[in-house]
Amino acid sequence: MENNNFVNSKESIETKKKPLIVLKDVLKEYDIGDWIIRAVDHVNLSIFETEFVAIVGPSGAGKTSLLNLIAGLDSVNEGEIYNSGIRITDMSEESLATFRIFNIGFVFQNYNLISTLTAEENVIFPMMLAGMTLDERRDRGLRLLGEMGLEERREHLPFQLSAGEQQRVAIARALGNDPPIIIADEPTANLDMETAEFIAKLFKKLKENKKTLIIATHDKVLIKQADRIITYKDSQIIKQDIIHDILQ
Ligand SMILES: Nc1ncnc2c1ncn2[C@@H]1O[C@H](COP(=O)(O)OP(=O)(O)O)[C@@H](O)[C@H]1O
Ligand SMILES: [Mg+2]
Repeated sequence: MENNNFVNSKESIETKKKPLIVLKDVLKEYDIGDWIIRAVDHVNLSIFETEFVAIVGPSGAGKTSLLNLIAGLDSVNEGEIYNSGIRITDMSEESLATFRIFNIGFVFQNYNLISTLTAEENVIFPMMLAGMTLDERRDRGLRLLGEMGLEERREHLPFQLSAGEQQRVAIARALGNDPPIIIADEPTANLDMETAEFIAKLFKKLKENKKTLIIATHDKVLIKQADRIITYKDSQIIKQDIIHDILQ
């Protein structure tokens, strides 16, 4: 299989640079009663520090399932996942939650803002979990909302915000604890062109700031910025295109 060849060739140079995230033979199935849906079919994948990986592929391929596993938001049926040298596969819910707070900013496709909290409260909530003081949280929250052009929306509840605004709040929240890894699930889908461009520029800046980016997307502008494009279909990696070899 193509993906195995790729992994082998990558692994031969892994002695030079160690991958940040490693998936080993990962299987994810959903038991929906009458049958079982296989969303991630024995996938092997290594992602390197500061790499921008775009995951493309048709709806239903299993992209969201794969991102959720990488982020530790869901558990594998088989296989192993390592992040920063730590095997996250069998971590307790509590340890995983703590690991995520400091290491991973996740941008959900449907934003997943807490409906009863204002934009500002949504952004600073993970900072509280990370132990920042109230002053630090307010300062940082306001700065991030400002960077997203949302300072004047800080008191708004999610339902009072447009889709583009909600997505920018969700991105600000993901950046709250300055995590080294940002995972985003179709972050520009269903948004107007202006907001989509704004978000693409933002990810470009995050890349320049040495973040590791893993983004499922159909957005040509975003895909163009990636170091590697992974084509995911029928629960497997069927193709990988290296645009910029960050191991060089
Ligand atoms: N929690 C779940 N329970 C049952 N089936 C699911 C669940 N999440 C995803 N699936 C199924 O797994 C397959 C892959 O879904 P998903 O990972 O959302 O793909 P994509 O993000 O590429 O559209 C689909 O057939 C979907 O219906
Ligand atoms: Mg999806």
